[in-house]
Amino acid sequence: MPTHQFDVVIVGAGGAGLMAALYASQGAKTCVVSKLYPTRSHTGTAQGGIGAALANLEEDHWEWHAFDTVKGSDYLGDQDAIDFMCQEAVNVVYELEHMGLPFDRTADGRISQRPFGGHTNNTTKKPVRRACHAADRTGHMILQTLYQQCIKNNVTFFDEFHVIDLLVTDGKVNGIVALEIDTGEYHVFQAKAVCFATGGFGRVWQITSNAHALTGDGNAIALRRGIPQEDMEFFQFHPTGIWRMGILITEAVRGEGGVLINGKGERFMERYAPTVKDLASRDVVSRAIYLEIMQGRGVEGKDYVYLDVRPETINKYAELDGRKGLDGQPIRVTAEQIESKLPDIADFCRTYLDVDPVKQPMPIQPTAHYAMGGIPTNLGGEVVIDDKGTVLPGFYAAGECACVSVHGANRLGTNSLVDIVVFGKVAGVRMAAYANQVDFTPLPPNPEAEIKARLEGIRNAAGAAGKENVADIRRDMQLLMMANVGVFRTEQLCQEALDKLAELKRRYQNIAIMDKGKRYNTELLEAVELGNLLDLAQVTAAAALARTESRGGHARDDHPKRDDANWLKHSLALLKDDVEGTGVELTYKPVTVIKYQPKERVY
Ligand code: FUM
Repeated sequence: MPTHQFDVVIVGAGGAGLMAALYASQGAKTCVVSKLYPTRSHTGTAQGGIGAALANLEEDHWEWHAFDTVKGSDYLGDQDAIDFMCQEAVNVVYELEHMGLPFDRTADGRISQRPFGGHTNNTTKKPVRRACHAADRTGHMILQTLYQQCIKNNVTFFDEFHVIDLLVTDGKVNGIVALEIDTGEYHVFQAKAVCFATGGFGRVWQITSNAHALTGDGNAIALRRGIPQEDMEFFQFHPTGIWRMGILITEAVRGEGGVLINGKGERFMERYAPTVKDLASRDVVSRAIYLEIMQGRGVEGKDYVYLDVRPETINKYAELDGRKGLDGQPIRVTAEQIESKLPDIADFCRTYLDVDPVKQPMPIQPTAHYAMGGIPTNLGGEVVIDDKGTVLPGFYAAGECACVSVHGANRLGTNSLVDIVVFGKVAGVRMAAYANQVDFTPLPPNPEAEIKARLEGIRNAAGAAGKENVADIRRDMQLLMMANVGVFRTEQLCQEALDKLAELKRRYQNIAIMDKGKRYNTELLEAVELGNLLDLAQVTAAAALARTESRGGHARDDHPKRDDANWLKHSLALLKDDVEGTGVELTYKPVTVIKYQPKERVY
């Protein structure tokens, strides 16, 4: 059994993992374990920008960014964490610039910024240019930049190693077990500190912007190790995914002046968010699209509406809205400008839809995009395991798999990139300091035995008649979650989801796979990932059933109002077989409210 020893082991090579690795490696022997080759991580698909109040093009302040984030979170975000993130956003964007990230520039050479949903001038309430961008490839550029820096800093990478377990001895996290995908060999990594930066779990749903790899491995492993998951009922649907495919069409399209149009040719966002219209926060826009479709105003009566970024449309609505350019002149956008600001989007639409977005509107529908909840952490990136903030020594989490909580019930666009860079850095710094204070906790004999037995059980199950197929169960789960625990939920839908998930989990116990080999056994790993997704679907549905209010990304048709008196609190979910009805134990902890008392949200 190959065993490796590092002070710090980081699982996941997206922006959070790489930023953590960069900082941890400055003070401790550090490695990154990733099931993908690092530059294929999902951060690379983040398109429109990273938010920071640089005020390069117009007045802005980090306090405005913080208020917008609190309001966007529907007041469920912790305000100490939000203040910290929005202040630090400015520093980390300059830091990325100095590392060489090729941001787009203003005419006088500063970092260019564009408007994004929910980001406003707090005085006028109008959209503000806050998203710093590299065309529509901002995440890709962050990933490349951080990977180069990690290589330069001698971080060790274990690429295409799939994490399968977290090791905990005497109440301390002291390593992980991973499967080397190429050889099928099990590896043990002993560590003083482990950081999960494993991304989201959008693959629970049928229509998602998430890559196939986003199966919540870190969240599910933590859950099985008895670490609760926070605020799992809050999963964001991004308003604009490519119809039927879910691939992200960046909010920057609307930031550049694109508008949403229903089947009757109406710019319907005027009715739902009269001030900021198409640039309302994502929960508001996704619900509006859903309602238009459900009320028969989808295009041709189907389940999509149009996102229109043709220059003539942008210019027409800019004039109707009285929007002017920075020079005070009427906005006159050309096809060439659209192509240069949104090159990837133009390319995706031509490739996947045979639609040329500078000549035709794009068919879109809401797509499962981002987990606001996850592994609970404090401001130092340390994982906390209860409502009292008790730390599990040696365990850290950052990025989408973590919940610090800066996004509350609904994340603002661009804040995921801020989150990964700010809190990845914090976790890296803190892990290096911790690793220099403590000794290695010895591993028990054969630490891989339990998880190995489980995986070998799946590999060796005889493929006889009556056995279940992984792809069938996954499809059934995705359709179920889309229909029952999607943009709108009710008690009946959530309960039905839980009953059917229990049945899917029973079927999962009876799976068999065809590939019995060791090398690149992706069928085995897909089976493991499905087990992870089923657990996460269950806690999501149970937390959604329990929360009898509507807030941010959690819209209960049977409880349409936000209920601060009873529900201004974070949920903590644990899998417990003996909890009748759901198999999930839920406890709650208070939200940190500092400056901003909850108010009605108006956009
Ligand atoms: O719309 C987008 O470009 C996505 C950004 C985000 O999720 O923050």
